[in-house]
Amino acid sequence: MAAETQAKPAETQPTAAPAMQASTQAIVTFKIYRHEPTVEKTPHFQTYPVETRPGLTVLDALIHLLDTQDGSLAVRYSCRHAVCGSCAMDINGKNMLACQTQVARLGPEVTLRPLTGLPVVRDLVCDMTNFFRKYNLITPYLVNKTKDEKDLTREWLQSPRDRKKIDHEIGCIMCGCCEGACPVLWTDENYLGPSAIAKAWRFIADTRDEGIQERIGILDSQYGVWRCHTAFGCVEACPKNIPLTESIEKARRRIIRYRLRGK
Ligand code: SF4
Ligand code: SF4
Ligand code: FES
Repeated sequence: MAAETQAKPAETQPTAAPAMQASTQAIVTFKIYRHEPTVEKTPHFQTYPVETRPGLTVLDALIHLLDTQDGSLAVRYSCRHAVCGSCAMDINGKNMLACQTQVARLGPEVTLRPLTGLPVVRDLVCDMTNFFRKYNLITPYLVNKTKDEKDLTREWLQSPRDRKKIDHEIGCIMCGCCEGACPVLWTDENYLGPSAIAKAWRFIADTRDEGIQERIGILDSQYGVWRCHTAFGCVEACPKNIPLTESIEKARRRIIRYRLRGK
């Protein structure tokens, strides 16, 4: 399906809220971005009343809403436990995971949009093609050049100390929250972006990897690490608290070392 950039939506009126369960507490208004670029020119906001209860997440509410009020709403999700990264969206102006965000903390009105800065496939679903294209550019796997093939049939162990060096970056769930929060990406979609750079650092800093040569070209290019303004938008948006600017800085230092020493 073709994806289009996000446009300014109009509004439609709410319908009555079907009960979620007996112990509900309050009605929250969900104001949701609706757009199907292949059939309509302009997007609009549609409002839905949602009954809250303690522990209700935005994703729980959306699934209930799909079941009881409007099955035509497009939402992407899978794990419901902040692991798969697929439910990322703009919630009251911030990129967050819907399955990790409690409705009770959001106030009486919850505005949902697709991730900022990414093209829309439909409603809350973004097109992640460019995001994964850039991920592929950084050679996202361990590169082995010296270890014998027969040694690779067993587990390739690493000391806890070495593993600690990549603890942060390995936790990335590829949700795209950081991507949508990066001002450089708003003007140049070819910038590698914080997630791909952090993933590149995850492999470069892995003591088993020998693939810096394969990654240096893209990292040290006009679309690589030097484009970052260190504005911290990505760090604030990351639901896994990955210190992305630190990862980018480490990658920069490693590139300089590589250019000076040739390894
Ligand atoms: S710190 Fe760099 S990568 Fe992160 S949002 Fe700012 S410009 Fe983008
Ligand atoms: S770095 Fe954080 S925000 Fe960015 S894709 Fe990974 S988990 Fe999501
Ligand atoms: S559904 Fe998997 S991260 Fe939210």
